[in-house]
Amino acid sequence: MPSQVNSACEVACAEDLTYPPPPSLQGDAHVPDFNTYKDLYRKSIQNPQEFWMDVASEFYWKTPPSGKLFDYNFDLTKGKIFVEFMKGAKTNVCYNVLDRNVMEKNLGDKTAFFWEGNAPTDSSVISYGHLLKEVCKFANILRKLGVKKGDRVAIYLPMIPELVYAMLACARIGAIHSIVFAGFSSESLCERILDSQCAALITADGVFRGEKLINLKQIADEAMERCKEKAQLVVKNCIVVKHLNGRLNNQHKAKLQTAWNPDVDSWLDELMVEASEECEPEWMDAEDPLFILYTSGSTGKPKGVVHTVAGYLLYTALTFKYVFDYHDDDVYWSTADIGWITGHSYITYGPLANGATSVMFEGIPTYPHVGRFWEIIEKYKVTTFYTAPTAIRLLMKYGDQAIQKYDLNSLKILGTVGEPINSEAWLWYYNVIGNRRCPIVDTFWQTETGGHVLTPLPAATPLKPGSATFPFFGVVPAVLNEQGVELEGEAEGYLVFKQPWPSIMRTLYGNHDRYENTYFNKFPGFYVAGDGCRRDKDGYIWITGRIDDMLNVSGHLLSTAEVESALTEHPAVAEAAVVSRPHQVKGECIYCFVILKDGKKFTELITQELKKQVREKIGPIATPDFIQNAPGLPKTRSGKIMRRVLRQIARNEKDLGDVSTLADPNIVEVLFSQRCEAAA
Ligand code: PRX
Repeated sequence: MPSQVNSACEVACAEDLTYPPPPSLQGDAHVPDFNTYKDLYRKSIQNPQEFWMDVASEFYWKTPPSGKLFDYNFDLTKGKIFVEFMKGAKTNVCYNVLDRNVMEKNLGDKTAFFWEGNAPTDSSVISYGHLLKEVCKFANILRKLGVKKGDRVAIYLPMIPELVYAMLACARIGAIHSIVFAGFSSESLCERILDSQCAALITADGVFRGEKLINLKQIADEAMERCKEKAQLVVKNCIVVKHLNGRLNNQHKAKLQTAWNPDVDSWLDELMVEASEECEPEWMDAEDPLFILYTSGSTGKPKGVVHTVAGYLLYTALTFKYVFDYHDDDVYWSTADIGWITGHSYITYGPLANGATSVMFEGIPTYPHVGRFWEIIEKYKVTTFYTAPTAIRLLMKYGDQAIQKYDLNSLKILGTVGEPINSEAWLWYYNVIGNRRCPIVDTFWQTETGGHVLTPLPAATPLKPGSATFPFFGVVPAVLNEQGVELEGEAEGYLVFKQPWPSIMRTLYGNHDRYENTYFNKFPGFYVAGDGCRRDKDGYIWITGRIDDMLNVSGHLLSTAEVESALTEHPAVAEAAVVSRPHQVKGECIYCFVILKDGKKFTELITQELKKQVREKIGPIATPDFIQNAPGLPKTRSGKIMRRVLRQIARNEKDLGDVSTLADPNIVEVLFSQRCEAAA
């Protein structure tokens, strides 16, 4: 049953409605009104030196920043693209998010994480003091295994505390973590390990997602095997977290055989027994890399986005404080996975830099029941709740009753991230979850931006449902037309940024050319986000979606090319083209056109095999929803697939626009007549 609370009129007019910040928040907010936002914004642009030095003064510096803070070139016609911030200053991110809180701010006993397991009976509480000790022990283990500053460490872990220990341990010794979402396949893991030549891999025996047991160690073993076969890369150390102990019944035990190679594998808990709780941090240059995180690229090969120490720390700390209006007794919960950028910036680094208390959740929204999120909010009295539109749409489907049982009065601020939110979902979130009391911060940003770049501030910005509103401090967006001319006032075009902010990515690991070509080539002088946007008469920015061949499925970016290459690896497939199609819950879903080789017959079996193939090559998030047998594809005379036409076919939209460049216009009719109505 859909919600009854959103009136039809409200949904229809949502884009014209404005929701002012609630006065209850404004009293002690960091940014209590819109004029204060404007003043601070102006300062951040006109005097960035003073603005960021103020922020830096909160943190510990082995060598404090001095001189000019920013040095950069955004214009390819003038030379190499680069961004430097506070270069020459020395610090350590782990020291700042842990030791500083424990020693200087006396927060040793404060809860850093309420860890909530997949099963509601499974939980633990981790204080800042405990977190510091575990991280130091882990860091000592890595050092003892020979991992040193600059080495890359792959982390393939579920949402368990050891994931945070592992990433901060890397940060402590200056190793560069490369976290791979634990829903990715062995092939995806292998590709990422190879690309950055990881010295070690950290994984777990397995994890439950709902009732499903996933044998992570087996996937990790397969990935390491592939690394050897494909590129003779031998991962020297694989550290394994014993997570399933006590969580398995006999049936599971029989299924879960953990293969063991004593030359490579070691159990974390055994290493931890011996490890010292003291570990001197590695003092890092502000511009040393902190981590690599892979994101999909339109060529199909993932891009290793590199973030550096000081800019990332300062920016995630500041955005967390202002965008969630963080106060000491808040309980914050982001439902993201640390395998994505949201988890890096707004589960680990941003909250910890502020000494915040967070919920970390291992499970899924619908297990063991559809009220799981609301149950957790009630249990921990969550004040700030940050999730994805896809989760909102999923839970909205189950109606309001699943919510009414729970006390959600602790909530003060709601947030969304990852994809545009439709007004119906926005209003449901606002009315039903927030009970009309809680502003929704619709945060637009990317793996590449490191932190929020367009976002409301909860006590300052009047909201319009579906708009990411205005830039955060230090960020200067612009709207360009196809010719690269900057558009003023009401306009629609390419979303670009005119100057760097501290946490913008610095390069793509091992491929600076690709960095320059992907983000800076189209419009010299601007960082091109890859999204379209519209600025309305009041200056609000609305993201209109990707302008490249990327799909956004449940808030996860995938490239059409990577799905296509997974499909064409099937022996029966000659060619494939993939487009997005709107989906009620996922936002977008994957619609595939496949041309089979001569003599091959399109059967249900092939459909299932193709779905399996994509799942195995990339991971379950990329599973196609529709697979259409295509006798041909709409191509231009030069052989380029006209994806625009395929998108219209997938959506059953007959308005095709200009198709005069099509080599064979008849194919369009044929494809329309053979459309998939029902999901595969
Ligand atoms: O298309 C935009 C969409 O997600 C893309 C970035 O994806 P990723 O790097 O995986 O990071 C997701 C989490 C930050 C963007 O280019 N996107 C992200 N946030 C929003 C959004 N689209 C609309 N509104 C948002 N709030």
